[in-house]
Amino acid sequence: MSSNVEVNNNVNNGEEQQLVCVTGAGGFIGSWVVKELLLRGYRVRGTARDPADSKNAHLLALEGAEERLSLCRADVLDVASLRAAFSGCHGVFHVASPVSNDPDLVPVAVEGTRNVMGAAADMGVRRVVFTSSYGAVHMNPNRSADAVLDETCWSDYDFCKETDNLYCCAKMMAEITATEEAAKRGLELAVVVPSMTMGPMLQQTLNFSSNHVARYLTGTKKTYPNAVAAYVDVRDVARAHVLVYERPEARGRYLCIGTVMHRAQLIQILKDLFPQYPVTAKCEDDGKPTAKAYKFSNQKLKDLGLEFTPLKKSLYEAVICMQQKGHLPLPVPVPRRAYL
Ligand SMILES: NC(=O)c1ccc[n+]([C@@H]2O[C@H](COP(=O)([O-])OP(=O)(O)OC[C@H]3O[C@@H](n4cnc5c(N)ncnc54)[C@H](OP(=O)(O)O)[C@@H]3O)[C@@H](O)[C@H]2O)c1
Repeated sequence: MSSNVEVNNNVNNGEEQQLVCVTGAGGFIGSWVVKELLLRGYRVRGTARDPADSKNAHLLALEGAEERLSLCRADVLDVASLRAAFSGCHGVFHVASPVSNDPDLVPVAVEGTRNVMGAAADMGVRRVVFTSSYGAVHMNPNRSADAVLDETCWSDYDFCKETDNLYCCAKMMAEITATEEAAKRGLELAVVVPSMTMGPMLQQTLNFSSNHVARYLTGTKKTYPNAVAAYVDVRDVARAHVLVYERPEARGRYLCIGTVMHRAQLIQILKDLFPQYPVTAKCEDDGKPTAKAYKFSNQKLKDLGLEFTPLKKSLYEAVICMQQKGHLPLPVPVPRRAYL
């Protein structure tokens, strides 16, 4: 049980445990959402396009999985598979989405979300939690440097398209679709908006945001950008999903950001924690002044009781996990100097 989340007495008070469905259960965030739900006593149905694939095996080893987790095959483009997955569920956590800038995958994110909302309504689901992204929030060149990034902010769609950030376009359109469909079909909707998500992986395969860190440690990334980004721990993202689900009054967006920093600071934390890796010290010279960190508000989630994990801890545990799973070479110990 996570220490900073109160037990929901509706879940485990002797009544039958609630059944909820998590789409994209085997992914980085999906796996932690499943783990958190199992720890809190829910019966969970997780969807994957190929549940029998060994990349989903870690789910069956989670605490409580034997008694309360089932996996089922569903593709977000196949409405019949979604209806079967949502049958009998009180709630749906729609986490699945391609995490990619591939233009062919934008419709998967958007139509997939429309299908999920429609199937949820058809099957009598009461409440949906949708996983958006801060890519739908912060990409706006016209936002003033002093403005606080909060739930009212939206990225500039045309700017995202012109700069080839099609993933941001997809997440914006998917979130708008989820909101419109929820209103049309009478579904309760809460939206978690995570920033770049860090921390240990439950799954074996390397996801996009974990690779973001790995490529600095392997030395694949030779320079770092003059850019500021927002980060959050994957366990905080999972807790946020369950918190907004369990609070009946929770509606709309919840910005899930733990910290905002320049890439130089992220690099420095990695260098301090793991000096043996060849992390670059070279900033890309874009001719612009050093990008400034912007202000943000995570107050809505704090008001629900969420405490954010320090990024240093998330990064440390992410790297140790990637070493253990064979995604990073174990650092060669620095030889101790012989004393005369
Ligand atoms: N990681 C981050 O930094 C971050 C930040 C903000 C928001 N998010 C959002 O969080 C969610 C999960 O991301 P993640 O980082 O956990 O990525 P991930 O590990 O790549 O997981 C993505 C999941 O989406 C599923 N998926 C993709 N296409 C699908 C389709 N056509 N039908 C059904 N499922 C499909 C995949 O399932 P299969 O097993 O079937 O391939 C996979 O489980 C996404 O909505 C993403 O936009 C992530």
